[in-house]
Amino acid sequence: MRTIEWVPEKNIVKMIDQRVLPHEESWLEFDDSREVAEAIRGMVIRGAPAIGVAAAFGMVLAAQQSRASTHDDLLRDLRAAHDVLYAARPTAVNLRWGLERMMQCASHLTTETLDETRARLLREAQRIADEDVQINQTMGAHGARLLPRQANVLHHCNTGGLATVDWGTALGVIRSAHEQGKGIHVFVDETRPRLQGARLTAWELMQWGVPMTLIADNAAGYYMLNGQVDAVLVGADRIAANGDTVNKIGTYKLAATAKDSNIPFYVVAPTSTIDLRTLTGKEIPIEERDPREVTHPDDDPRGIAPEGVQVGNPAFDITPHRLITAIITEYGPIYPPFDETLLPVVERAAADRRAGRVVSPEDVLHE
Ligand code: MRU
Repeated sequence: MRTIEWVPEKNIVKMIDQRVLPHEESWLEFDDSREVAEAIRGMVIRGAPAIGVAAAFGMVLAAQQSRASTHDDLLRDLRAAHDVLYAARPTAVNLRWGLERMMQCASHLTTETLDETRARLLREAQRIADEDVQINQTMGAHGARLLPRQANVLHHCNTGGLATVDWGTALGVIRSAHEQGKGIHVFVDETRPRLQGARLTAWELMQWGVPMTLIADNAAGYYMLNGQVDAVLVGADRIAANGDTVNKIGTYKLAATAKDSNIPFYVVAPTSTIDLRTLTGKEIPIEERDPREVTHPDDDPRGIAPEGVQVGNPAFDITPHRLITAIITEYGPIYPPFDETLLPVVERAAADRRAGRVVSPEDVLHE
């Protein structure tokens, strides 16, 4: 199942509404780029790679909506849509990455008609979506190699097909290892306050038939110290040039606890999540979300806290690079020192993109 898809018969983009899972499987349709921005902000769609793809399709809709009669006017309308989509959520760099790729595609010097440019933008967004699936499956093949034949894995937030177009990043590694016949069991952090683990990850793992145990976030340290966890796998929203990794709030605590128990801590993310323009994690903007997410879990109108209580709700935290064992990308695991090892991989990804090449799980088999 794809989380987000273009519907050619209707010229719209459809997305599964992640706010109502696992109770309802409901799909929403969008024909307006501003509504796509609102869907990203309101977390109809979420997860770093998925919002990059949503933004790319948002740009396709903006091109369709544009009344421009010249390329310059079309570019002006696309820039305006870019700014609205870019402002939807601040932390995941994939949003910027997807938008920049679409702007580059639109800005090519061209003699084609406006409708041909619109068609080219649609092809580019579809390419970004297709590549995402292939890249996730390749990361899955690389990551599965790092897991023992029998493994208890701890996972935070949701990094599955829902957080991407399909397959997933950290959860994609778990899926690949499971499909290879490895005996994987997952401790699923519920992931307060929005409960992406309980609502989304548990739903996906149950569909894939992967054995799992849902735990309160606070229980993770107990299982780690007890020797019941062989590896921690998480995704990333943005990785700085020195390897500092911003991911769902609570990730840092897991990494620190894993270090104390000598458990490998793996970040699984495509190269599009690596932001070499940001030197350290401290420079990454951390989204502060609605206090109601903390006081009213699952939107229960009664809430759990006294009326008017002061709340802090950072959606992400920074895991310092020194706590990370390896960053698993579509080019394989990258090890410290990350300030030296990330750059060549990002350069390789850029060269492959220029050459129209995308790595695949078969490449991993032949390594
Ligand atoms: O606030 P969310 O649900 O968008 O946060 C998602 C995460 O933090 C994921 O772990 C991250 O995007 C990597 S998912 C492939």
